[in-house]
Amino acid sequence: MKLLVVGSGGREHALAWKLAQSPRVQLVYVAPGNGGTAQDDRLRNVGITDPNALADFVAQEQIAFTLVGPEQPLAAGIVNIFRARGLKIFGPTREAAQLESSKDFAKAFMKRHAIPTAEYETFSDVAAAHAYIDAKGAPIVIKADGLAAGKGVVVAQTLEEAHAAVDMMLSDNKLGDAGARVVIEEFLAGEEASFIVMVDGKHVLPLASSQDHKRLLDGDQGPNTGGMGAYSPAPIVTPQMHARVMREIILPTVRGMEQEGIRFTGFLYAGLMIDAQGNPKTLEFNCRMGDPETQPIMARLKGDFSKVVEAAIGGTLDTVDLEWDRRTALGVVLAAHNYPDAPRKGDFISGVPPETADAVTFHAGTTLADGKLTTSGGRVLCVVGLADSVRSAQSVAYEAINHISFDGMQYRRDIGYRAANRKHS
Ligand code: AMP
Ligand code: GLY
Repeated sequence: MKLLVVGSGGREHALAWKLAQSPRVQLVYVAPGNGGTAQDDRLRNVGITDPNALADFVAQEQIAFTLVGPEQPLAAGIVNIFRARGLKIFGPTREAAQLESSKDFAKAFMKRHAIPTAEYETFSDVAAAHAYIDAKGAPIVIKADGLAAGKGVVVAQTLEEAHAAVDMMLSDNKLGDAGARVVIEEFLAGEEASFIVMVDGKHVLPLASSQDHKRLLDGDQGPNTGGMGAYSPAPIVTPQMHARVMREIILPTVRGMEQEGIRFTGFLYAGLMIDAQGNPKTLEFNCRMGDPETQPIMARLKGDFSKVVEAAIGGTLDTVDLEWDRRTALGVVLAAHNYPDAPRKGDFISGVPPETADAVTFHAGTTLADGKLTTSGGRVLCVVGLADSVRSAQSVAYEAINHISFDGMQYRRDIGYRAANRKHS
């Protein structure tokens, strides 16, 4: 069979790489793909991004199903368009994708269904937003309501920063429509984890746990990014925590959406903050897999992923058992010069090592032209190492990175430090 993955990042490379391992799969198209998907014989890039044109392509090529990576096409209704044409696709409809595409929708939904999350209020009026901040004090968190490509959240340590964030979004319209409304919420302290499940409308299949590193610099310093590295499993998600998150957050979300007449299908990603007492709260929902969490998760997944996605599309996820590599997978993102502000493009990349049994490099912002690999985006590569402990997985990943170079390459040296510092890891 032939499949299609929509997107061009490291997440999509990892999804396509995993799907292509199935003996049933002849070819995985990636739209538009990147330099890494261009290099793999089992994958083929297609330069189409318009959802209607993609639907035409899928019908013409008799593609068995489509898997969508990023949030933008989901929020724009690619699933609605494909379904209306009878084409198989895994992802949420435009309506269900509001769990990610509108923070106000997600927060109001969580309130209605008593799902643990930070206290909040939503504002479009500048003066009212400023007054709320003065009343609540700092630290406090300001979030643009709409999709803002990772730039929509300001964790303000001071009142000054909080007021400036409101001005940036509501008065200066720096984020356009996405920032026309803001959610202002309570600051939550603790440790974050990414909890990702597959949902077929009714049944929920949890994937392995993971943890992301959002800040640019070692020790969680510097600006927020899309994610500088991730590893799986996340030891903070113990079996007890897993059960609690399913009971208090995931299942009420899936049931709540069903009750409200918006059946959720697709990957559901709850970004968790777990406090010192071990209580999980929902920081955000994403209606897709995480990037870079997908890279270590796919590296650990065993078995035929194409069958899992088929079951998810067919509504039979309750019949699926996932099997995971017991090793830890740890992915380190190599970013371009000046990421995240204004990443430079066009730097020549050399030394990407070939895949081995314990290390694989997924591409994101890379382009292949005339046999040359160059940078073409902020996050360039994600190097994943697999080993029996977090520390050994770090060694494998960082050893592979030693071979790779491009001008301006920047990466964190401490991916996985929280898990590595725990006992027995
Ligand atoms: P979000 O896109 O909502 O996940 O926010 C991006 C990042 O901002 C999160 O991964 C957290 O690191 C941080 N963050 C978001 N909301 C809060 C909060 N209420 N308290 C503390 N940190 C937060
Ligand atoms: N790594 C965080 C995200 O995908 O939203």
